Amino acid sequence: MVNILPVASGKGGVGKSAVSVNLAISLAEKGKKVVLCDFDLGGANLHTLLGLKNNSAGLGNFIYRQADHLDALVQDTGIENLFFIAGDCLFPGTPNLDFFMKKKIMKEIAQLSADYAILDLGGGSTYNILDFYLMTHNSLLVTTAEITSILNAYSFLKAAAFRFLTRQFGAKSEERALIQNGIQSNTKGSEYTIPAVLDEICAAFPESGQTAREEFSLFRPQVILNMGQTAQDIEMGRRLRSLAQHKLDLHLDFIGFLPRDESVPLAVARRTPVCLLAPNSPFASGIRDAAERVLAHDYGFNDILEQEDNANADLERLQAAFSARLQTQNEQTDSASAAAY
Ligand SMILES: Nc1ncnc2c1ncn2[C@@H]1O[C@H](COP(=O)(O)OP(=O)(O)OP(=O)(O)O)[C@@H](O)[C@H]1O
Ligand SMILES: [Mg+2]
Repeated sequence: MVNILPVASGKGGVGKSAVSVNLAISLAEKGKKVVLCDFDLGGANLHTLLGLKNNSAGLGNFIYRQADHLDALVQDTGIENLFFIAGDCLFPGTPNLDFFMKKKIMKEIAQLSADYAILDLGGGSTYNILDFYLMTHNSLLVTTAEITSILNAYSFLKAAAFRFLTRQFGAKSEERALIQNGIQSNTKGSEYTIPAVLDEICAAFPESGQTAREEFSLFRPQVILNMGQTAQDIEMGRRLRSLAQHKLDLHLDFIGFLPRDESVPLAVARRTPVCLLAPNSPFASGIRDAAERVLAHDYGFNDILEQEDNANADLERLQAAFSARLQTQNEQTDSASAAAY
């Protein structure tokens, strides 16, 4: 079965595409067959990051029924083990996908013959994006440590959590109506939290409420903090974790802490992925660490990482590796300047 890794963010421009492409390359370098899919409808640009032309059939052709199967749209990238499904560049203004088209695309993704399908979802929290995000329980979320990006990441998770919970119940069910009423009657100054809604459902519908609670506990997004500038930026990861835990009953696993690194925009300008252009750069080395964590995990349904005793052990490990990487980078800069004299 293919492991499905949707990659989303609350705010745009935080590095989803850079992470998707380079994670795909790192996994391919480790011998895994990877299909990278450009699901950023209306903003597809992964072909540019891969140095490919924007003239291949892609997801747009499937949506407009010019292709029967997604695997017919898989193209070579020239990189060993890495394949690509282009976006909808050939079809400006792709409409909102209806339920059946979404279902069809999901089914096709799940049937791809590959070890990993990485989906760059584009920014925002439309139902299209949320539904692809919820294809697995451990999808990736990219954020920077900036407060706006963290708050948007939280808003995205909140939208995803409510969508996840709502989808546990039939379209016309009383449970769904209760959630909708709760959202609509939310008063100024208060926040409708997932623990509150779960308690309400369980009180009114103990059996279906308990099943939904158990299913919800499997939803465990994985987060990559990007563009870190100092090791202290990890603190913002802690804040996001605590918000998600208290207001959304959601446990987050942090799998990457990537530095701000000038190799990334340079690689974009050169149309060559960072991991190939600058394999020794701090960003590339951080992505390879994240890929190791991805490899250690199974992205199937009903799958959760083991709870650790120290709830922040993942963040502490990432912070230590980040500091070590910065230290090496500084030493290299120092010795380069010393050599220049
Ligand atoms: N770690 C980094 N260090 C420096 N620059 C970065 C880093 N990550 C991403 N960037 C730069 O930030 C910009 C946005 O990155 P990218 O396009 O990957 O974000 P995105 O989340 O996919 O954006 P969009 O929402 O528009 O799809 C690019 O110019 C990229 O080069
Ligand atoms: Mg992008």
